[in-house]
Amino acid sequence: MDAETAHDVTLSSLERLKALGMLPPAQPLPGRAVSALGLRFPNPVGLAAGLDKNAAHLDALASFGFGFIEVGTVTPRPQPGNPRPRLFRLPEHRALINRLGFNNLGLTSFIENVQRSTWVRERRGVLGLNIGKNADTPIEHAEDDYLTCLTGVYPWADYVTINISSPNTQGLRDLQHEAALRRLLHRLKDTQQGLAARMHRHVPLVLKIAPDLSDQQIDDIARTVLEVGIEGVIATNTTLDRQAVAGHARAEERGGLSGAPLLARSNHVIRVLRAALGPDTTIIGVGGVLEGEDAVSKLQAGADLVQIYSGLIYRGPALVADAVRATRSA
Ligand SMILES: Cc1cc2nc3c(=O)[nH]c(=O)nc-3n(C[C@H](O)[C@H](O)[C@H](O)COP(=O)(O)O)c2cc1C
Repeated sequence: MDAETAHDVTLSSLERLKALGMLPPAQPLPGRAVSALGLRFPNPVGLAAGLDKNAAHLDALASFGFGFIEVGTVTPRPQPGNPRPRLFRLPEHRALINRLGFNNLGLTSFIENVQRSTWVRERRGVLGLNIGKNADTPIEHAEDDYLTCLTGVYPWADYVTINISSPNTQGLRDLQHEAALRRLLHRLKDTQQGLAARMHRHVPLVLKIAPDLSDQQIDDIARTVLEVGIEGVIATNTTLDRQAVAGHARAEERGGLSGAPLLARSNHVIRVLRAALGPDTTIIGVGGVLEGEDAVSKLQAGADLVQIYSGLIYRGPALVADAVRATRSA
């Protein structure tokens, strides 16, 4: 079956099981609780963005036992994403390549879905909402899309992720460069402070970065994050690098590579970030967690929390339990 069709079928089967009352309770597995971003995470294992782009399956996914769930990336307006096929499995490498391109139903539908979730209403775990820009918004107006999304999701989020690291939206990763990044983050910070004052509730901002950065670029990003007072960084998104899968029939598909081949690179980014950020900024480590021990390796590299996407495709929900168990004593 085509990988994206399999993805859709799995999520609708999960919904059917939920309707039949056949899923475990939608609550975090007991694990090592973590205080970060001014929030209490019941365990340090989260769902990474992109698996549930429309926040349509929160309660079903919460039954896997995550301590936190991040949904999105959402853009202001609905958009179809790139033509299919656009998601590929490389099972020999326990990896995926995707060039989905932020296919999603837009901000209004996203917020309606979040509001419908029992897991969210009862505050059982921590909810991250991940925001981006529409493909047809010129890059010089990207800030407007991020501000629209931030304002829309703010009342419903425990934290908001600013995703400037997808390789599948033209020009997006350029927002990681110094002057553009400083401008974008300052404007988002101002808006966050305005919203916090108006709503009497501070929602932290987290920046999601690519793995394809030099140590110098990571240092520059860290400096800007500290200067602006962004509360956390997610490292990392998918990679454009294909060295680890060279020779595979699918290796040259355009898009971002995720899964096992990403582990070492994203752990390196975490280490460089932690050295540059010092102890106070939260780091969420993501990329290549396929075993409980991989989650531990991210904490050892300096992350406070971890997220999983591709590992779930190859290991299923048992991976969440493995990672929660392994990180209990880490
Ligand atoms: C099919 C697919 C879609 C993704 N979509 C998004 C997205 O919309 N927003 C985002 O921030 N990251 C997205 N990601 C990146 C993941 O959140 C994660 O950073 C990356 O896959 C590395 O983790 P992994 O090796 O556990 O998959 C996506 C990844 C995959 C495989």
